[in-house]
Amino acid sequence: MELAKRLNRLPPYLFVEINQKIAELRARGEDIISFAIGDPDLPTPSHIIEHICQAAQDPANHRYPETAGLPELRQAIAEWYERRFGVTLDPDKEVLPLIGSKEGIGHMALCFIEPGDLALVPDPGYPPFFMGTILAGGKPYFMPLKEENDFLPDFKAIPTEVADKAKLMWLNYPNNPTGAIAGLDFFEKAVHFAQQHDLATCHDAPYTEVAFDGYKPPSFMQIPGAKKIGVEFHSLSKTYHMTGWRIGMVVGNADIVDALFRVKSNLDSGIPQAIQYAAVEALRGSQEHIAEHNAIFQRRRDKLVKVLNEIELKARIPKATFYIWAKIPQGYTSMGFTKKLLDEAGIAVTPGTGYGKEGEGYIRLSLTISDDRLEQGMGRLLAWHRRRG
Ligand SMILES: Cc1ncc(COP(=O)(O)O)c(C=O)c1O
Repeated sequence: MELAKRLNRLPPYLFVEINQKIAELRARGEDIISFAIGDPDLPTPSHIIEHICQAAQDPANHRYPETAGLPELRQAIAEWYERRFGVTLDPDKEVLPLIGSKEGIGHMALCFIEPGDLALVPDPGYPPFFMGTILAGGKPYFMPLKEENDFLPDFKAIPTEVADKAKLMWLNYPNNPTGAIAGLDFFEKAVHFAQQHDLATCHDAPYTEVAFDGYKPPSFMQIPGAKKIGVEFHSLSKTYHMTGWRIGMVVGNADIVDALFRVKSNLDSGIPQAIQYAAVEALRGSQEHIAEHNAIFQRRRDKLVKVLNEIELKARIPKATFYIWAKIPQGYTSMGFTKKLLDEAGIAVTPGTGYGKEGEGYIRLSLTISDDRLEQGMGRLLAWHRRRG
């Protein structure tokens, strides 16, 4: 048996080592408090669950769905974009539901990347951006996201020959893992840069509804011209706490949406229909829980950032996402510091290098942990810091 060489090109999955260590400690009976996972602890709102249960009873929903998704769902997505962002979409040509946005993100490279082609990818960044490129035989060109640039890529620093050669560019705001945000002025620059270099641009925006202090993150599709060069990935996972149901969408340029549809229609058979009906309810029904959930995350954010700064982990207060990107003290690697927290405080965090080499010097903490465990975790961090003098 000989595995394809492309598997060897995938970088080692950094979280494996940490996950193994957590499993070992837990097997020994240690109580580990995890700030490592970006998965909302609060449940999917009950009116959405009711719709899943109802739709699951209907035999029509027991059969194969269509890759293109239910027309009703594509319509509901288009209406949501109009209401939320003032962006008009053709539900038949400019909207495609996905089995979670990660699935579409992973498959996107197959639409653009030939062996040896370049894709511009943020570093640090959500790993499927570059993994998809590598699996398609391409090469990621990493755009560093530096704190001094507010974690935005510097397009001027990308050599012209690289930008001309690249086929695809990935962007993601509000950003995982840094929690950074981007305004319409940045999106305008991105559209201009993409037009100049003929770059298909994918903006990944699953966190636009997880925002604080009254801030409302914009959509990349609000920029006139964005639809000519790009698409936006979005998701119901974080907005409606539906990570386990697996439903997301891509919207924007009709040719790009169609290309992804052509790849997907040969690989999958769409999203279970009961979940599509639940998504229609999520998008059209009450949105009240969003403010309620954000108030909870905001309260947790303020408490945790205060504690982190007290123990000399420098963290900015994010305006969106449920991630805190904290700078670790000098003299440690991200991985070394992560292991130290695990061994000495029983606290699991994500090493910044799990998101790329520019993540060195940082750790990521997620606010998707219950209030009780958060309090306990903060207590442990403070006690650990005191013990170290
Ligand atoms: C930046 C980013 N994009 C996409 C996803 C995937 O979301 P989904 O659940 O829709 O696959 C995540 C999940 O953590 C994410 O952080």
